[in-house]
Amino acid sequence: MIVVFLGPPGSGKGTQAKLLAKECGYLHISTGDILRKALEQETPIGQKAKKFVLNGELVPDEIMLDLIEEALRPGKVIIDGFPRTINQAIGLENMLSKRNEDVFKAVFFDISAEKVVKRMSGRLICENCGAIYHEEYRPSKTEGICDVCGGKLYKRADDNQELAIKRYKVYQEETFPVVEFYKKSEKLLTLDASKDANSLHNELKRALDGC
Ligand code: AP5
Repeated sequence: MIVVFLGPPGSGKGTQAKLLAKECGYLHISTGDILRKALEQETPIGQKAKKFVLNGELVPDEIMLDLIEEALRPGKVIIDGFPRTINQAIGLENMLSKRNEDVFKAVFFDISAEKVVKRMSGRLICENCGAIYHEEYRPSKTEGICDVCGGKLYKRADDNQELAIKRYKVYQEETFPVVEFYKKSEKLLTLDASKDANSLHNELKRALDGC
C-alpha cells in the first residue's frame, strides 16, 4: 500500500509520517530529508538541488522522479513531500502501474497559512536522528537536546519567515493542483491538520483502517 502525504510546508506531514512509520511499520520516504542529506554530503543530486532547496523553490521534476523510483520498495510505504506537481503525480501513477501497485491513498493536511508559518518558525530538528520538535508546541525535555538520542537540535536553513512565506506561495501555485487531481479520482482523504499531533495520529490511523 502506498500513501502519499500532501499539504503546505509545516503542516505536520513529517511528524505524522514518523509516528505512523514507528507504530505501523511503514517505510517513510521523505523527499525533503533525502534532499537535505544529499546537500550535506554534496552528492551529485545535492549539488543540482542546492540552489532550489535553499531558495524555497521546487527541485526539477526529473530529479525528483528518479529519486522516488530509486527509493520505492514493495510493502507499506508513506511518501512524504511528493508528488508536488501534476507532472510528478502522473509520473508516480506510471511507476505504480508498472509495479502493479493497486492500493493507493493521498492524505491532504489541510491548515491555514498563518498556522504553518508559526509552526515552521519554531521548528527544531535533531541533527542525528531527524526527530522533529517545536519550541512551543513540542519542546524537548532538555533545551537544544533530542529526547530520543541525545543529539543536538538545529533550525532548518529554509525555516526563516521570508522563505516560509515563499514556500507557502510555491505550494499554492504548484502543489495545491495535485490535491485537486487526487480529489477528482476519489483517492483523497482530507485531515484537519490544525489539531494536536496525537489526535491527528489517531484520526489518520482510523482513516487508513488501522495499522
Ligand atoms: P520538505 O522537507 O518536504 O519541506 P515541506 O513540505 O516544506 O514540509 P516541511 O518539512 O516544512 O513540513 P512538514 O509538513 O513535514 O511539517 P513538520 O512535521 O516538520 O521540502 C524541503 C524542500 O525540498 C522544498 O522546499 C523543495 O525545495 C525540496 N523538495 C522536497 N520535495 C520535493 C518535491 N517533491 N519536488 C520538488 N522539490 C522538493 O512540522 C512542522 C512543525 O510543526 C514542527 O516544529 C512540528 O513539531 C510542529 N507540529 C507538527 N504537527 C503539529 C501539530 N499537530 N500541532 C502543533 N505543532 C505541530
